[in-house]
Amino acid sequence: MFNQNSTIGDMLKNPVGNDVITTITEQVGIPKAFIYNPLSKSLQLSHLMSMAKGAIDDTFIDMLCDKMNQYDGIQLSESSHMKKTWWKEAVAYQIYPRSFKDSNGDGVGDLGGIIEKLDYLQDLGINLLWLSPIYDSPNDDNGYDIRDYYQIMSEFGTMEQFDQLLDQAHSRGIKLIMDLVINHTSDEHEWFEAAKEDESSPYHKYYMWKKGVEGTYPNNWVSFFSGPAWNYYPNIESYALHLFSKKQMDLNWEHEPMRQDLYKMIRFWLDKGIDGFRLDVINFISKEDGLPQGSDLVCSIMGQCGAEHYFFGPKLHTYLHEMNQETFSKYDVVTVGETPGIGVQLSEMLTHEDRQELDMIFNFEHLEQIGKSRKDDYRYDANHLKNVFIKWQTKYNQQCWNSVFYDNHDNPRMLTKIDPTGRYRSYAAKMLAMLQMTLKGTPFIYQGQELGLVNGVFETLDDYRDVESINLYHELKEKGEEEDAIMKTLFASTRDHARIPIPWNQEAGNGFTSGEPWIKAQIKDTSITAESETADDRSVYHFYRKLIELRKEDMDLVYGDFEAVHEKRKNYFGYYRHGDSSTYFIDMNLSEESIRAYEPSHQYDLLMSNYPTESTMLRPYECRMFKVER
Ligand code: NOJ
Repeated sequence: MFNQNSTIGDMLKNPVGNDVITTITEQVGIPKAFIYNPLSKSLQLSHLMSMAKGAIDDTFIDMLCDKMNQYDGIQLSESSHMKKTWWKEAVAYQIYPRSFKDSNGDGVGDLGGIIEKLDYLQDLGINLLWLSPIYDSPNDDNGYDIRDYYQIMSEFGTMEQFDQLLDQAHSRGIKLIMDLVINHTSDEHEWFEAAKEDESSPYHKYYMWKKGVEGTYPNNWVSFFSGPAWNYYPNIESYALHLFSKKQMDLNWEHEPMRQDLYKMIRFWLDKGIDGFRLDVINFISKEDGLPQGSDLVCSIMGQCGAEHYFFGPKLHTYLHEMNQETFSKYDVVTVGETPGIGVQLSEMLTHEDRQELDMIFNFEHLEQIGKSRKDDYRYDANHLKNVFIKWQTKYNQQCWNSVFYDNHDNPRMLTKIDPTGRYRSYAAKMLAMLQMTLKGTPFIYQGQELGLVNGVFETLDDYRDVESINLYHELKEKGEEEDAIMKTLFASTRDHARIPIPWNQEAGNGFTSGEPWIKAQIKDTSITAESETADDRSVYHFYRKLIELRKEDMDLVYGDFEAVHEKRKNYFGYYRHGDSSTYFIDMNLSEESIRAYEPSHQYDLLMSNYPTESTMLRPYECRMFKVER
């Protein structure tokens, strides 16, 4: 059992301890060798407390020990035999329906639009679609605030259209997964409507309530979308928890009838024949008993007071396993958990095939550099991408599976992070494509990535639609920050970059809509469209298409072993994928300076490259893919 006398060495053997130490040392820049030396390993937690001179207190250490104790003695089996399944072999594509294609001229993308573009998706070669939420919602957070899990949002269409979409996708060999938002519902969900009226309502216990303390909030927890994480309901003199917007009310997973209602809903969709789910912020569903005050240390390091009480709550595994047994395990489906803020070892606890919880996760470590957050305006260094990928490719248990992604509806484009000026747009986009399609893990392409889309142009506050950005604006304004600085933060961080409608062509409305688009912003270079990209053989689109084809054809690219070369060489990323019948070698320049290439051996054939001519050097963002059959 962990206590204040436990040592760093003990911690390193525990998944929570290992992830915490890895995260802290990486953030602070302490070399690994320092932590793994015998002297450091013999340090006790109590020594750390005195060394930290009060910054780490008893409560924090006790909380950490509790969390580590949950995993004490759990050993994950490790074998080199990897089970083969369709979802490991799939190439996935995320659609943010609001911004994909509008079919009825109301300026909002919809199901009809997705149906129209199924041929486009089939031509691209993807075979798994993830739809961001399409359920009935008041759209405070664009559908991540669900009012009715059994209805389609009227702006998006009807249930008949959904059935048609599913059918038509399946007939093209494309599987479809839905977004499952079950950490919270909209405050307009009928459960919450009843819950807030009356404490004796059977639905009251479906949510997380707490009484105020001395006339104010029950604790110091804050919302991800600015301000305290609590709404007050005077009629029942209680506060309800919302980790996200004021209209996204956290569900109480402790309450079994609530869980059963969710499982029933999940089975409803699975019975329709969908192929699985992406589970929204799923590592937040279990909260610490009594919802205690957040530690000052976490508040100051993360700015997210209270997070330690729900990031990986005490019953997370119990709930996930139960949900798996009651629902997913009865169908041939895939589950992908969105799990912000967790490291390799805790992810293994969620995805190891013996544990029957989730199939894979989205981890976000590669999206921001160490010590930075999305809200910082900084120049991203692609070497970080390489370091994180190498870590996950080599350390992750072989009986766990992962996803590989860069973009989604919550982040600015990776392409712009890597090449902010846009000078090397198509080279960098192709390099990212080759990297994504040749790593181990199911690739998830986010809409527009295949066109090499970049961040958009946002000038005034009016251009933004994202509830997070708008709340952030007001929060910073209240804190007295300068307008210019606020607008910089908004521009760096806004999720709207990825929510700009897909430019299908250069006609009015960009072929996205015949009406007024729900969001005005566009990318600067309006000549980049699906029409222009599909018409040009040398485009980013065709590069993706070819890579997708290669990945689907050769299982060695899916299951082959990963081996990096010259790991320490700055700006260089080279690796093998050793499969049953062939080996691939990827040679890549992560920067805009030319660097020396690493030729694996003359027997290797060059399959693809993003430059038309040969060179002994790797030019800016050059990537090459070689193959040798054995
Ligand atoms: C993660 C989703 O991806 C994001 O868009 C949403 O705002 C939050 N979860 C809350 O549901």
